[in-house]
Amino acid sequence: MRKKLAAGNWKMNGSLAALDEIKALASVTDGSVEVLICPPAPLVHAACAAAPETVAIGGQDCHAKDSGAHTGDTAAAMLADVGASHVILGHSERREDHDEHDEDVRAKCNAAWDAGLTAIVCVGESLSQREAQNTLDIIGGQLAGSVPDGATGHNLVIAYEPIWAIGTGKVPTTDQIGEVHDFIRARLERRFGAGVGRSTRILYGGSVKPSNANEIFAVSNVDGALVGGASLKASDFGAIISAL
Ligand code: G3H
Repeated sequence: MRKKLAAGNWKMNGSLAALDEIKALASVTDGSVEVLICPPAPLVHAACAAAPETVAIGGQDCHAKDSGAHTGDTAAAMLADVGASHVILGHSERREDHDEHDEDVRAKCNAAWDAGLTAIVCVGESLSQREAQNTLDIIGGQLAGSVPDGATGHNLVIAYEPIWAIGTGKVPTTDQIGEVHDFIRARLERRFGAGVGRSTRILYGGSVKPSNANEIFAVSNVDGALVGGASLKASDFGAIISAL
């Protein structure tokens, strides 16, 4: 039985004062659903200190190397050292803004695993790729390229985020979400075996809101959500957590 996961990606938003929103999640989290907030790097340490026991904290990226001359970057072990348990990797905004490719994500994933972090590896198609009916090919290629060997069922979460649904208010139909999640599950089972494939969580991300969460969470093989904008306020994110 896969435990549902509600993951909030604050992206480049937040402040020390905003950590009150994480504290406020105490009233809607009882441990039955896993809850994670990934704030920007400068807030990770303070967020770990502020978070209630039922809320885990993660990073939004890490470097593939352990240490060295990489100005502006964060090592996976540094995230773990300050109390983070997860890291988002290969988000489409990183792939686009920082020219990250599957092989970069794969190397970062290995670094995250070496540091004991759970990697949330993001995959997703652009609108033109969907319109050209290339969605499953794109997702299959990203999965094969971005996820290293060595998935255990606990150290990996896949987030399916269609790029055209991120921050746009547009959401795929439940059939479209189901088709991609079933495909990801099948690929994980084929590559890693039934045990690992069936225990790896697959999240949906892209314009998840309290108003559409119930419908999305009812889709087969949707084990939770990676939420951007609606994770910034405890009231919205709490409503999404409650829908799981
Ligand atoms: O990582 C989160 C996703 O990019 C979704 O963002 O919920 O603001 O559409 P959004």
